[in-house]
Amino acid sequence: MSNQGNNEPQAHSDDDRHHFNLTRRDLLKVGAATAATAAVPSGVALASEPPVTPPPEITAVRFTVNGEARELDVDTRTTLLDALRENLHLTGTKKGCDHGQCGACTVIVDGRRVNSCLTLAVMHQDADITTIEGLGTPDNLHPMQAAFVKHDGYQCGYCTPGQICSSVAMLEEIKAGIPSHVTLDLVSPPSMDADEIRERMSGNICRCGAYSNILAAIEDVAGGQKS
Ligand code: FES
Ligand code: FES
Repeated sequence: MSNQGNNEPQAHSDDDRHHFNLTRRDLLKVGAATAATAAVPSGVALASEPPVTPPPEITAVRFTVNGEARELDVDTRTTLLDALRENLHLTGTKKGCDHGQCGACTVIVDGRRVNSCLTLAVMHQDADITTIEGLGTPDNLHPMQAAFVKHDGYQCGYCTPGQICSSVAMLEEIKAGIPSHVTLDLVSPPSMDADEIRERMSGNICRCGAYSNILAAIEDVAGGQKS
């Protein structure tokens, strides 16, 4: 009769005991091997020990930020985002994901929008960089900044600097005739319609979901730039 479902202790057969003894011996062997490895003196190099990484180089980088010449000594691994925020204290540019997925860190480099978390500062010698601080001032807003205010294009505002830098450069891309994935006619200049704007701004994520007002703000500015 089957003992399944019965909670009473079960008697072990000879086979079970033999199996248990083997398993226990194997465990003792593994334990001894582990202890031997741990007992290797710290000064003795193991064959598989990884090579020592040399310390990072410090490099001077010169670029123009918001119209001002800047020079920095930075670790070669420093991202442009960290150079702007940590070294130059331009904290308007936001760090969201730090993985190139949200667009919060978008700045304009030589006229093109760039995710500054994905690029190293030393890759931008002599570049012309514009951050949100360089687009306008509280007393003299850039038209895109004014449109975001007018259309209530933000809630928490964390994505807003990246949205504004991205949209300013994006409209220049359309004016330059650069097509996107939704451009149907590759011979004529792309239009500044909602589909084009949505597609081209798809790399800028708004966690508050202020998209409808962001689109209204960009369309407002785009409407004024249509030829
Ligand atoms: Fe750079 Fe998110 S912080 S893309
Ligand atoms: Fe809050 Fe966009 S306004 S993330």
